[in-house]
Amino acid sequence: MAQQDVKVWDIFVRVFHWSLVLSFTVAWLTEDDLMTLHSYAGYAVAGLVAMRLVWGFIGSPYARFSNFAYGFGAVKGFLKDTLQLRARRYLGHNPAGGMMIFLMLAGLVLTAGSGMMLYGAEEGAGPLAGMAASLGAYEHTLEEAHEFFANLTLLMVFVHIAGVVVESLIHRENLARAMVNGRKRV
Ligand code: HEM
Repeated sequence: MAQQDVKVWDIFVRVFHWSLVLSFTVAWLTEDDLMTLHSYAGYAVAGLVAMRLVWGFIGSPYARFSNFAYGFGAVKGFLKDTLQLRARRYLGHNPAGGMMIFLMLAGLVLTAGSGMMLYGAEEGAGPLAGMAASLGAYEHTLEEAHEFFANLTLLMVFVHIAGVVVESLIHRENLARAMVNGRKRV
């Protein structure tokens, strides 16, 4: 008998996710010498994250922030259970995954924001040029901040992917495929 499954990730979340993976990767790979492409990829990241922030309030039930905003106690308990290989299975994001999503979104906002500030201070151009106009003397600091946030976000992405792999193994399900077709077994 075919296993029953249920729709968990709506089309917005899935398109958002894989577009984000693509734009973040392009931005990362072009940071040294392809500045035009780098800035377009950065704008794509910023636009996607802005839309996701809205979708977190009006999207389908599993996409809403209220569905995966857990406290530190729940995250700690979940991680402890995961270490003992007895973590509960969640249809939506689990407490640790949910916390990581908030952290990654914050990391992406800070990375894209500091990139736009840097561009504004260096070139007097871009959406934050007005705000960055007087920051010419802080170019170096802005550059350091942009690099720091980008590295921090990349680190979180690695932890995120490791978490997806571990949870997929523990519950014998392919979570990456669920982010493609939106479906999970009941
Ligand atoms: C190939 C690498 C990646 C894989 C396989 C992957 C897989 C996944 C999966 C399976 C989920 C759902 C987690 C769950 O079931 O609770 C998810 C969510 C998420 N991932 Fe990834 N991910 C990857 C790369 C990335 C990257 C590079 C970023 C950020 C730059 C990212 C950001 C997110 C975010 C923000 C969510 C939450 C989605 C939402 O609710 O809108 N992921 N990812």
